[in-house]
Amino acid sequence: MDTEKNLRRMPIEYLWDGLILEDDIFNYNGSVLLIPRGEIVTTSKLKKLSNFSVDEKYVMVCEECYYNILSNKNIPNKIRQKITENQSGYTELKQNVGGIFHKAADNKWFHNDEIEPVIQQISEKLNDMDPIVIFSCINFPRPMDEGLQRHSLNVAFLNGMMGEWLNLSQEDIRLLVMSGLLHDIGKTKIPEEILNAPRKLTKEEFAIVQRHPVYSYEMLENGFDERVRLTARHHHEKINGKGYPDKLVGDEISLFARITAVSDIYDAMVSKRSYKEGKLSLNVFDSFYEQKYDGLDMDLVMIFLKNMRRNFLNKKVVMSDTKIGEIMYIPPNDCAHPIVQTDEFIKQTDEQWFCKEIISEI
Ligand SMILES: [Fe+2]
Repeated sequence: MDTEKNLRRMPIEYLWDGLILEDDIFNYNGSVLLIPRGEIVTTSKLKKLSNFSVDEKYVMVCEECYYNILSNKNIPNKIRQKITENQSGYTELKQNVGGIFHKAADNKWFHNDEIEPVIQQISEKLNDMDPIVIFSCINFPRPMDEGLQRHSLNVAFLNGMMGEWLNLSQEDIRLLVMSGLLHDIGKTKIPEEILNAPRKLTKEEFAIVQRHPVYSYEMLENGFDERVRLTARHHHEKINGKGYPDKLVGDEISLFARITAVSDIYDAMVSKRSYKEGKLSLNVFDSFYEQKYDGLDMDLVMIFLKNMRRNFLNKKVVMSDTKIGEIMYIPPNDCAHPIVQTDEFIKQTDEQWFCKEIISEI
């Protein structure tokens, strides 16, 4: 054992089947060599590692080895995502949101004051982090069991960004973030077998799901700002009056509710697995531009798109042929096909050559 090297913790979940180790892996206190350098990590070895560290699911590796693994270009997408979410603090936030939602689901009384620390954490991330890191966390298909907490957190982030883009006051942004976080809390009252049914819902079941905005409104009666409550109630209203539950029209729907409707649809669309088959979420922007989502406030949609395009501009991307490129221009009416520059050429992407992943540095 090389005692000169500085060892550091590494979650076992960052290792994958097929990884060739450039250095030794030790147990949690660095005293036992578990896998020596040069060996290939296999599924059975990973299982053994997990069994070996009962409570703490991590091993010790030298600093260099840690960074080599994190920057390995064969790292599976799922693990890269996990690393981004852990390092950005998204994982911790998601767990905090989960705590609030479980309390709500268990019919336990919850109050405005309990939400404040989470809102504070989200606001700090919005101020400190490159939005593209937040998008890396948002734009990922979610496991069914954490659908609601992920969605709620994502809408909170998107609402916060929209608040900034609209130059709202800090107090308004705080309430807008809270509105995003809690808009769907009423879904905790909908039976899970209906909410997560992997099939088309019956008319009766759909009517039950449609009660969630009113449930959210009712659940937020303990000291929550009326604007937060009304956003929860009205985030499924449509400008054309065809929404629910109150069939409001145009400006009768509050600004917060109209913003939340845009964030809600964006997050729902990017989380769909069909969009994740290797392509960036840029094609979702086109659906907004083409007004495929009925009843949204188009002035807000245009502000959303303009700023989204700005955020993706000049970002480094991994292309479908594994080349690294930079997004040079995103056509407003054809976001799915940005112009990308690589070391060798500059050209517009198409169905054969497209952006697969943004390279986000935390
Ligand atoms: Fe909803």
